Amino acid sequence: MSLSPEQVEQFKQDGYLVIEDHLSTQDCDVLRERAFQIIKEADMSQHPMTTFSTVDKDKGAQTRTDYFVTSGDKIRFFFEEGALGENGKLTMPPIEAVNKIGHALHIFEPEFKKVTFSDKIKGIARSLGVVKPSVPQSMVIFKQPKIGGRVNPHQDSSFLHTTPMNLVGFWIALEDAEPDNACMWFAPGTHKSGISGRLLRTEEDGKLGTKFEGTSPSTDENKFVCAPVRKGSLVLIHGEVVHKSPPNLSERSRNIYTFHLYDGTSEWSKDNWQQPTEEVPFPFLYEKTE
Ligand code: FE2
Repeated sequence: MSLSPEQVEQFKQDGYLVIEDHLSTQDCDVLRERAFQIIKEADMSQHPMTTFSTVDKDKGAQTRTDYFVTSGDKIRFFFEEGALGENGKLTMPPIEAVNKIGHALHIFEPEFKKVTFSDKIKGIARSLGVVKPSVPQSMVIFKQPKIGGRVNPHQDSSFLHTTPMNLVGFWIALEDAEPDNACMWFAPGTHKSGISGRLLRTEEDGKLGTKFEGTSPSTDENKFVCAPVRKGSLVLIHGEVVHKSPPNLSERSRNIYTFHLYDGTSEWSKDNWQQPTEEVPFPFLYEKTE
């Protein structure tokens, strides 16, 4: 139920750690099936067709920005850029077009809640010395066959910043993730020199937005190590380690479930795009006394 001292040491040294067989194949399938069912049940008729990585310039941009910035306490859908036609409409069924679902699966979806608040996860948080583990967000990332987009080198603490920084990503492979279907790549040790930039929430004339200040990490390409993992593996990702994944050009998907955790004894930045709401404050895995 906890990490060995060697595993903790490895995590501290590399900035990530692979833990095999965290979930059973069956557990993974339950999460995948539920994720697909959520998409099937969703009413997409009013969806602003928000993709995940575009810089919006047209008149629908503000609607799409709002859709993203206010998604922290909801279950919302973000599409692959490659799934939209020139008219901005989907060229394929939503189930094949979704890049990710976020960001409150761990609040509203029992199967995801169970996996997030499990004794195993609590044990890992304790092993890492987290006093008051708080879970701000969760996502299913689909990395669809053929159109699953590239994720450029980044540090998660650029997007979910705390003082002091102590964010940890929990990333669970719901399918095998290998080089051909775009497994993750890490630059070991890069978590030791701070972050290179930050995504900040903005509000001008009552309009919400985001802006990136600083730069993306300029990590040497040959510092990255491929991290293939089997279905059910959990990967711990230090908030400051530089990581990336290539586009998925293969015929098979690479579905994963991920959530982030930080120590609630630290300060959640008011500048983060995501803010806890009165209705949905960030839940804790445990309080110190437990
Ligand atoms: Fe990331």
